[in-house]
This record gives sequence, structure tokens and C-alpha cells, in this order.
Amino acid sequence: MPDTGFSTACTRCPRLATFLEEVRQQHPDYYAKPVPPFGDASAKLLIVGLAPGYHGANASGRPFTGDFAGILLYETLYACGFSTAPVSRSVDDGLKLINCRITNAVKCLPPQNKPESSEINTCNTYLKTELQALKPGSVLLALGNIAHASIIKAMGLKLSQYKFGHGNEHVLPDLTLVDSYHCSRYNTQTRRLTADMFKAVMLQARAKIR
Ligand code: URA
Repeated sequence: MPDTGFSTACTRCPRLATFLEEVRQQHPDYYAKPVPPFGDASAKLLIVGLAPGYHGANASGRPFTGDFAGILLYETLYACGFSTAPVSRSVDDGLKLINCRITNAVKCLPPQNKPESSEINTCNTYLKTELQALKPGSVLLALGNIAHASIIKAMGLKLSQYKFGHGNEHVLPDLTLVDSYHCSRYNTQTRRLTADMFKAVMLQARAKIR
């Protein structure tokens, strides 16, 4: 794994560190630490989510694993050839991502699923190192507006020049960014994002890998 500067002992965001402390007391069996990226370190597709969910990634220690959003994500990754299995159950289930890596803009569980902007900014240094480690020709798939904005910031670019929209493609230095609505429970249940739309945007991202 390339050095992302990231540590599972990070306590840079006081509010999040305190919250995780409380979660550890309530759920001693939960992972409840900053969740590291998962997948092939030399992958050419990097999927960027928002932050771990309480009873999902925060409990399991693997992005999107145990989260409702992860059901569609891992199913779609498998359908598009990026995973060895359609379901991610736990960190030791043997699932391997293929040419794909998954990370979050914010590595710690935020209260009410809502990171503050200062927390998004503090965590951005980790994302920046992860982006710097990507090979030229790699593709980023941003799940939602916060992931999109975090990528643009980490690249040192101006957000006003890169508008988020489902299916939008942005040419960045050495990389392509493809935007998707987040595969959250809310977005899928309201059908803002359907399984077909999500598969189509993942195939769009796959086609941009060089
Ligand atoms: N789980 C994650 O790890 N990230 C998200 O963005 C949502 C759920």
C-alpha cells in the first residue's frame, strides 16, 4: 500500500475522535476507527465515497461494507468486472477488488452522517496523497457532491470550473473524474439513482481508463 500519510490512529478532528470514543464504548465489537481505503494499491479506478456509515463501514472496517449503499456498489462492481464477488460481508471474506480501490472523502464516522466542512478539509490531506499515488490514465468515480468537491480540492483546482452532475466527466491533470449520484439508500429508494443508471456510470468510468 502506498504511503497515504493515513493512520487508523488519526484523531485530527476532535468532534469525530470524541464521537468514535463514544461509539467504541457503546459497541465494543465495532471497528470504530478511521476506515482505510480498500483494494488494489495500483488500481486505475478509484471510487470516492463520503464517509463510513455507523453500522456499516464503521462497524466492519471496510468502506461500504455493511452499509445499505454498499449493496448496490459491490453488486455493480462485480457486474462491471471490478470485484471477485457481488457481496462484501467483512474484512476477512476473501473478496478482492480488481483494478479498483475504494476510499472515502472523510475516513471517520460523522454524527448524523454529516461531516462538517472543517472535517472534510482536514481529511482532504489523506485524499490528496491517495490521488498523488494514482497512475496517469486512472479514473476517479465520485459518489456524490462532497466526494466530487473533495477531489477537486485535493487536486488544487477551482470548484467553480468543475460542476457536479450525474454522468459529468471532467478532464483533470493525468486523470479523468466521472461523477455519480451517491448510491445511498435515499437516492436509490427515491429512484434518483437506479441500478441501471449506476451500472451505466460505472461502465462510463471503466471506458475512460487508459
Ligand atoms: N459507506 C462508506 O464507506 N461510504 C459512504 O459514502 C457510504 C457508506
